[in-house]
Amino acid sequence: MDLLNSRITDYIAAQPGTSPSPLDEMEDYAREHKFPIIGPMVGRILQQLIVMTGAKRVFELGSGFGYSALWMSMVLPDDGTVICTDTDENNERMAKEYFSRAGFESKLDFRMGDAINEFIKESGPFDLILNDIDKEGYPDTIKPVKERLRSGGVFVTDNLLWSGRVIEPNPDESTRGILQFTKELFNDPDFLTSIIPVRDGIAIAVKR
Ligand SMILES: C[S@@+](CC[C@H](N)C(=O)[O-])C[C@H]1O[C@@H](n2cnc3c(N)ncnc32)[C@H](O)[C@@H]1O
Repeated sequence: MDLLNSRITDYIAAQPGTSPSPLDEMEDYAREHKFPIIGPMVGRILQQLIVMTGAKRVFELGSGFGYSALWMSMVLPDDGTVICTDTDENNERMAKEYFSRAGFESKLDFRMGDAINEFIKESGPFDLILNDIDKEGYPDTIKPVKERLRSGGVFVTDNLLWSGRVIEPNPDESTRGILQFTKELFNDPDFLTSIIPVRDGIAIAVKR
């Protein structure tokens, strides 16, 4: 199910300044290889959240080849860092290459391994945490994120609408992970949560 009219999406994507290089190349790569990335509309929202919260320390669970992380790095202060995680060495290599080309390599700290395992090695506090791992793992992120996100920090999670599958009968394991995660996050009084129905739906949860 397309959540947004494709002409509207194209109209937004055509606005000036969207996806400066090498983000545009990364989008081409993702399109060619059918690799899921957050896309430019969510990239812009992430940048706004970084600036609004004055974020310096960012953790990303499930970074792929660094596309979402590069959007965030571009507006982090010079001494800001984004810790990326992924299980695929090729993604780490590509992320390092793109960050280097963009001149932001000093802001990248890439950790190979399971995202939650790598995350719990860190004590925090983080200003912003982005969650984009396999969807069945989503419910297990809430507790460690709550312990490591500063008050006023933002927890962003991608794919909350899962191409509309969240409202279809007989959800599969991934969809069940998203449904459980969404319910728990909205019920958690320590977070102020909303879903923005942009692209595949992002949850924005502000820690109180
Ligand atoms: C949707 S992609 C991430 C895309 C990235 N956030 C972006 O928009 O550019 C998900 C990535 O998370 C990785 N991944 C999924 N589950 C993971 C886990 N439990 N631990 C570490 N990496 C994981 C996958 O290898 C994949 O590269």
